Amino acid sequence: GKHEESGLGRGRASALANANIALIKYWGKADEALIIPRTSSLSLTLDGLSTETTVEFVGNGRGAMPPAQRDLPGVPDRTSGPRVAASASSGRDSLTIDGVQQSGKVLDRVSKVLDLVRAQAGINAPAHVSSTNTVPYGAGLASSSSAFAALAGAAAQAAGLRPSRRELSRLARRGSGSACRSVYGGLVKWNAGHDDASSYAEPVDNSMDLAIVVILISNREKHVSSRDAMVRTIATSPLYESWVQQSGKDLDEALAAISTGDLERLGAVVEANAMGMHAAMIASRPPTLYWLPETIRALGAVEELRGQGLPAWSTMDAGPNVKVLTSGRDAERLADELRSMLPACRVQVHRPGAGLRVFDESGVREAELVGQAGSLAPLLSR
Ligand code: DP6
Repeated sequence: GKHEESGLGRGRASALANANIALIKYWGKADEALIIPRTSSLSLTLDGLSTETTVEFVGNGRGAMPPAQRDLPGVPDRTSGPRVAASASSGRDSLTIDGVQQSGKVLDRVSKVLDLVRAQAGINAPAHVSSTNTVPYGAGLASSSSAFAALAGAAAQAAGLRPSRRELSRLARRGSGSACRSVYGGLVKWNAGHDDASSYAEPVDNSMDLAIVVILISNREKHVSSRDAMVRTIATSPLYESWVQQSGKDLDEALAAISTGDLERLGAVVEANAMGMHAAMIASRPPTLYWLPETIRALGAVEELRGQGLPAWSTMDAGPNVKVLTSGRDAERLADELRSMLPACRVQVHRPGAGLRVFDESGVREAELVGQAGSLAPLLSR
């Protein structure tokens, strides 16, 4: 085929993905195995927080098994034949993150995504995966969203598959829910859907000038992973169902604000949605509280600066760090103010970033992905 001539799809490929920050949060699954969320969510993909991943299928197992029939995410249904039982080779996969060999849970999650790709491509070979982050892993900002988006792109490419962006979004979702949104740049909506095929992200058209100022409060490992914390919230928090109900309205409100370019309106609902999510998890039993004393100081500083007329609204994820939604033109001034008010914190400006990019084995030639890259597509092709 065409990709063979171009040198793409010969067992090794790499991909680059940016992390995203949710403006309307994903918190809780309707289906644990397929990672179908209870609610749709909205995010901004950021520059400067990225993961680059190389996947290489090793050994002579390539093509040894017949292609899978259908039903696996990330790839078109284009062959018939017996379905392949995945995972014969997963035990032998290897993974390094920032040069450090990984095992256990992290490797298992990576192997699960590789199994989906192997089954679809008819590959029965283990893979070497190596991943590097622009922000050190464990620094409190390295994110599973960029990691699993890059893994999906590199693995599918290395297996010789030619998935569309939508299919890559579904595949990335199987590794980590929020990763399905990092397949696209800029503002992105993840449609919750009701099954594997209907749960994917897509870009949101807009002309807003947005930025996120990250206030780094702690780089310690989170004490409870978001995966475990959301299970506990659903199972035990009396506030969870009302957050779910409200979240649908919040998303509509955010999309309406985006369509009219109204930052005040967007910021207000973004902040409220995140605080509601934290209220629900704090009310779970036992409570999940990610906040530190410096978190409260940061939230107070943001409120104070907003009172002085700067556009600034806080959001938080499964950790103590505060991320501040603002306009691109006010971002540097806001960051300077926050630095002087919060001398113990590192404060960084992040602009909207591009969607997933996939490269051939030389790392030079970029593969064309079917589907829009998102609102930053024009930037990418330069
Ligand atoms: C608070 O995507 O990390 O960042 O699907 O279990 O891997 P899993 O969870 P993950 O959860 C992200 C939660 C959040 C909000 C968000 O990104 O929408």
